Amino acid sequence: MPIIFDQEKGFFHLKNSEISYIIGLEKNKYITHRYYGPVLSSYAGSNQLQMIDRGFATNPDSQERTFSLNALPLETSSQGNGDHRISNYQIRNHFGQNVTNFIYYTHEITEGKKILPSLPSLRGNNVTTLAITLKDHNQNLLMTLTYNLYENYPVITRNVHFENQGYETVYLENAGSLLIDFPSTDYELVTLNGSHTCEANIARQKLHPGIQKIESSRGTSSPQHQPFLALVNPETTETSGPVFAFHFVYSGNFVAQVEVEQYGSSRLQMGINPDNFEWQLQPKAIFQTPEVVMNYSQRGFNQMSQTFHQIYQKELIPTGFINKERPILLNTWEANYFEFAETALLEQAQKAKDLGIELFVLDDGWFGKRDDSSSSLGDWQTDLNKLPHGLKDLSEKIHALGMQFGLWFEPEMISKNSDLFRAHPDWALQVQNYPMTEGRRQLVLDLSREEIQDYLVHVLSQHLEEAKIDYVKWDMNRHLTEIGNVILPPEQQKELSHRYVLGLYRILAKLTQKFPSVLFENCSSGGGRFDPGMMAYMPQTWTSDNSDALCRSIIQYGYSYLYPPIMLSAHVSDVPNHQVGRITPLNTRGLIAMSGNFGYELDLAKQTETDLIEISQQVAFYKEHRKLLQFGEFYRLQAPDKNFASAWLFKNQTEVLVIYSNGLAQPAVPIHYLKMIYLDNHANYQELASGEQFSGSELNHAGMLIPRIKEDFATVMYHFKKVD
Ligand code: DGJ
Repeated sequence: MPIIFDQEKGFFHLKNSEISYIIGLEKNKYITHRYYGPVLSSYAGSNQLQMIDRGFATNPDSQERTFSLNALPLETSSQGNGDHRISNYQIRNHFGQNVTNFIYYTHEITEGKKILPSLPSLRGNNVTTLAITLKDHNQNLLMTLTYNLYENYPVITRNVHFENQGYETVYLENAGSLLIDFPSTDYELVTLNGSHTCEANIARQKLHPGIQKIESSRGTSSPQHQPFLALVNPETTETSGPVFAFHFVYSGNFVAQVEVEQYGSSRLQMGINPDNFEWQLQPKAIFQTPEVVMNYSQRGFNQMSQTFHQIYQKELIPTGFINKERPILLNTWEANYFEFAETALLEQAQKAKDLGIELFVLDDGWFGKRDDSSSSLGDWQTDLNKLPHGLKDLSEKIHALGMQFGLWFEPEMISKNSDLFRAHPDWALQVQNYPMTEGRRQLVLDLSREEIQDYLVHVLSQHLEEAKIDYVKWDMNRHLTEIGNVILPPEQQKELSHRYVLGLYRILAKLTQKFPSVLFENCSSGGGRFDPGMMAYMPQTWTSDNSDALCRSIIQYGYSYLYPPIMLSAHVSDVPNHQVGRITPLNTRGLIAMSGNFGYELDLAKQTETDLIEISQQVAFYKEHRKLLQFGEFYRLQAPDKNFASAWLFKNQTEVLVIYSNGLAQPAVPIHYLKMIYLDNHANYQELASGEQFSGSELNHAGMLIPRIKEDFATVMYHFKKVD
């Protein structure tokens, strides 16, 4: 049994071949955190709790001055009765007060993992579950802490479930998903931060006294902060040292924070952001929090990433796409923006087909009177000025070319200038007597309302069925403001941000169940809502609106901490690049885009003959190595340095592809041997361009000399085959 309860000593031991997680039961009342790290063969409590009579401490039992909730390492906070550190929950009772006294009530150990109601979560093959229920006996409230231990990964997922068994309505002012008190402060905090067009920058800093926190209150998980944090030792590197990583399976407002407290411990907490949140919990009602993926690595960031990549690919994305090869696409956006005609699109599709491209994606601008971003969101009828024969006809013509057909939608939005808004002005999020703030000239639909959810499912289903659409790009291009709706009573208005996310999940669940073979691509101006919640429905994400190869090498490098390349859509775009004006070689643009989920987004009619030949070679190369690039293991070899040089490799049983990106060319070129680190030491490899053979150990430890490169932004590729 991978979860053991030692009743006599009061410990739960969650254990697989790599990790142990120990929870204590103190005085048969309080749930304490006792250990998290490498697997322990057994546990008898050598790391005893420190019990000292401390100044300012309050004591649940006045006779026992050495016992205080404020110094106890806990698995959930207490509220209003002595634990003054950051809290994982807050409940207001019907008198308007914030005190509870949750103590141990019961627990259950079961095989398997329950799917969370209305929320995305990881599937659970080979999982054992521990559910510990605490009870506040005064108000008859239950709080269940659930731990799902994976047998084949160093992973535990956690969530919390609140239930009101009392007679009075209470209000959840905070409903977090995870809290752990680590018995040390000697950690560094790792997060992924950024902005639109500059996502997923890796940040690492020492913990300091007080609270360090990242959050979103924008209505989505946001490009500003990935809902992720990790605690690492100061000496942790890419390949060694512990990493405690936490990733939130949720697409709305979140908080992830660490408090370095007075007695040398660090409290980590993660969950829905309590700012602008409240949930009415009526008698008999339950509230389910989203889950957190806890991923422990003993071998640095590389092992952390391998685990995330594998578990997300196998246990998170829709099952139909686990092993499904993804097509090479041509997206129309950067070549056409809003201006196109059917004939031009068909010419572009024909050219793409001739080059070997497999999927034609019509981006924004095909519906309503959408000639710029100021109108038509919500009016999902084909613009017959641009597509006089309709969408179905266009789709048929694309299919007749032997290509798949994909279409852009931004379903969550409504333009003020749209028939939908004129018919249903109350469908937009709004607060009485305040202006509706626009972003990109658009408003946000109130997805908390079931009729609006059903309407969107209906409209999209019609298009998907009629036009036989193979791929949907699901965009979302602004954050939420005036978060109010016209239906909920005042005491429930603060539920709206979470209800919005639940509404979105309901729509996505319905559509992806109805159209299991349609490939949905997640997008929010690129990586604005790139999180495991969205990946549960859509197996790939448009990584960033920044398509410049150099910027992309850094953005994709950052995202690779959490997501495998197949989840990161990446396109070869035109030069000078539309976002930063940079000119990079086509070879580099190709190799950087192939390091993600590959496609093109440029005007093929404007490319030179030489470039078109190179594009057709890139397409052929990608097809030949698609299995390796989409399903192989991905390893980072060199983090972007001050000249923006970086390197990574793809590997499977037989092949290895190494990509070195040189960044800015240097005058006094330093000696640089690129060590492959992850090859099989006992195997031999042939480098295909030169035909030379090397032992794996040589490539791993001596490395390959990076040649002198007299060109900015050049890229070098090495391709090895294993030989007997
Ligand atoms: C933002 C997306 O990220 C772009 O790729 C493109 O689809 C535009 N929206 C279209 O409006």
